[in-house]
Amino acid sequence: MIDIYNFIKNQYKGGIKDMINVQISPSVLSVDIDKIGDAVKNLEKYGASYVHCDCLDGVFAPNTSDGIRMVKICKANSNLPLDVHLMIMNPDKYIKDYVDAGADIITFHESACTKTAETLDFIHSLGKKAGLVLNPDIDLNTVKNYLDKVDVIMLMGVFPGFSGQKFIPETMDRVSKLKEIIGDRNIKIEVDGGVKSNNIRELVERGCDICVGGSSVFNAPSIKEGLEALLNA
Ligand code: DX5
Ligand code: ZN
Repeated sequence: MIDIYNFIKNQYKGGIKDMINVQISPSVLSVDIDKIGDAVKNLEKYGASYVHCDCLDGVFAPNTSDGIRMVKICKANSNLPLDVHLMIMNPDKYIKDYVDAGADIITFHESACTKTAETLDFIHSLGKKAGLVLNPDIDLNTVKNYLDKVDVIMLMGVFPGFSGQKFIPETMDRVSKLKEIIGDRNIKIEVDGGVKSNNIRELVERGCDICVGGSSVFNAPSIKEGLEALLNA
C-alpha cells in the first residue's frame, strides 16, 4: 500500500507541517494530582493520542502514585484512550481495578509478574489492550514468548520511578532490535522515559510508534508548545 502520509509530506515538503508519524502519550506523573483534570482536558486538541497514567507501588520502583485515582480523574476529563503503565509488583492482582477505573491499554513489567501469559489473556478477556514493559537492563528476548499475546511492547528509556530523567542512549538500538523481533506482526512499539524533541525523530525512524512525553509536555512553556515540539521534531 502506498504510504500516502509520506507521499504528501514529500510532495509538499515545508508546505505542510513537517510532522513525524508518531502518537504521543503524555505522562501525568509530574502533575499534581489535584491539577491533572485541567492538565488533560486539552491534550486531544493539541495532538495527543493517549493519556499515560503511571501507577507506582513504591516497591517495584522507588516512587508511589495513587494510580487508581489518577486513572479515574483522567477518564473523567479526557476522551483519549488511557495508556496505563503499571510499575507495581504482582500486577495480575489489580487488573480488574484498573479496568474498572477506566484503563484502555494496560502495560505491566514482565519482571514484576509471575503469571505474565495469563495476565495478558485476562486483560484481553476484559476487552482491553495489553502490553509488556521492559526496563533498560532487561533482555529483549524476554518478549519472544508473548508475541502472540501483546498489542504493544514498551521499552523504558529510563529506569522507572520519576519524570524528568536523562534518556539512556542505548534505547535507540533496542528499538531497532525490537522492531526486528516483532517483524510484520501487528504490535506497536512504545518508548517511555526521556523522550524529547531532540531524540523523538530517531526513535520514530527506528520503528517507535508511540512516544511517552512527561516533562517534555508538562514542563514546556505550555502543553500546546510541548506537544507541537514533539510532533514537529
Ligand atoms: C517513569 C514513567 C515515565 C515518566 C516519563 O517511571 O514511567 O512515564 O513519567 O516522564 P519523562 O518523559 O519526563 O521522562
Ligand atoms: Zn510510564
